Amino acid sequence: MIRTVEWTDVGVVMLDQRLLPSLETYVTCKDHREVAEAIRSMVIRGAPAIGVAAAMGVALGVRNSRAGDVSELDAEFGRICDVLSGTRPTAVNLFWAVERMRRTYQRMRFQGVEAIRAALILEAQQMHAEDIDANRRMGRFGQELVPHRARILTHCNAGALATAGYGTALGVIRAAVEAGKAVEVFADETRPFLQGARLTAWELEKDNIPVTVITDGMAGHFMRLGRIDCVIVGADRIAANGDVANKIGTYSVAVLARENSIPFFVAAPVSTLDLAVPDGSLIPIEERDPEEVRRVGGVLITSASTRVANPAFDVTPSGYVSAIITDRGVARPPYAESLRRLAA
Ligand code: MRU
Repeated sequence: MIRTVEWTDVGVVMLDQRLLPSLETYVTCKDHREVAEAIRSMVIRGAPAIGVAAAMGVALGVRNSRAGDVSELDAEFGRICDVLSGTRPTAVNLFWAVERMRRTYQRMRFQGVEAIRAALILEAQQMHAEDIDANRRMGRFGQELVPHRARILTHCNAGALATAGYGTALGVIRAAVEAGKAVEVFADETRPFLQGARLTAWELEKDNIPVTVITDGMAGHFMRLGRIDCVIVGADRIAANGDVANKIGTYSVAVLARENSIPFFVAAPVSTLDLAVPDGSLIPIEERDPEEVRRVGGVLITSASTRVANPAFDVTPSGYVSAIITDRGVARPPYAESLRRLAA
């Protein structure tokens, strides 16, 4: 299995996703600030992977702390958590993971600095293992929705690279293959970071799952020709009413799927649910560096001063979502009820 992120004695090791598929190199983050920078600069990306990396970053920060007693560590711990929480605003898994580390800290607080350190390292490793298990469960639930010989469109990368392993949307596809179904994947290129072209295609080729990369603008064409049977995407945050924040371009895909009567499925663990947010209009959307749009592969494609916009995510209203596949089962509309039941 692809090793996206790992805890080691030297630090948190991550496969550098900025350089794939040309180079398979690993970055070792030796303190929590380096982990934060790796998340911000997208060495690691994808909601569940960001969550696990942030948890490991918190553990690393506390491991490196020189605090002699718990009261000294208290203030430092808050700062470490803030540095990691401040990296990217949309994927709720990041805040979920840091919150879980805060709870572990509170639980261990009266046992002393050494016990806190050990517990936080264990918790982060546990979250890594749990994420892979959750993806496998999601795969088992989700593959039931995938017909034999399905031609599946996906957007961005919701694979092993976006998680601790196996993947969410790609986990469902992998599980369908493991169940003996012949499937074929169409991967949207996913401008501007090219997660589909660079990452999804790379992962699926490694697993010998047939994949065709198309540019984002081609999706409607293939749907109208009857060459797509279903869409499966991941999510960065799902509001209580089932609205889904995911990679920019997902909304267009969902609307096209509806227009062409194609089921549109979202695969995400319950850690991606944010039931405190009533609907998608309240989900913060990250705006990234305009240079990501102005350049392709480092080459300027606009004039250097051209004004561009770069929202990294969009929100798909729940009305376009046929089902939400989670690690606890498949939610169907009305989502306000089905998601609440799954999260309970
Ligand atoms: O900006 P990214 O690459 O972190 O965005 C990733 C996505 O939008 C994924 O589809 C989402 O995180 C689900 S990953 C299992």
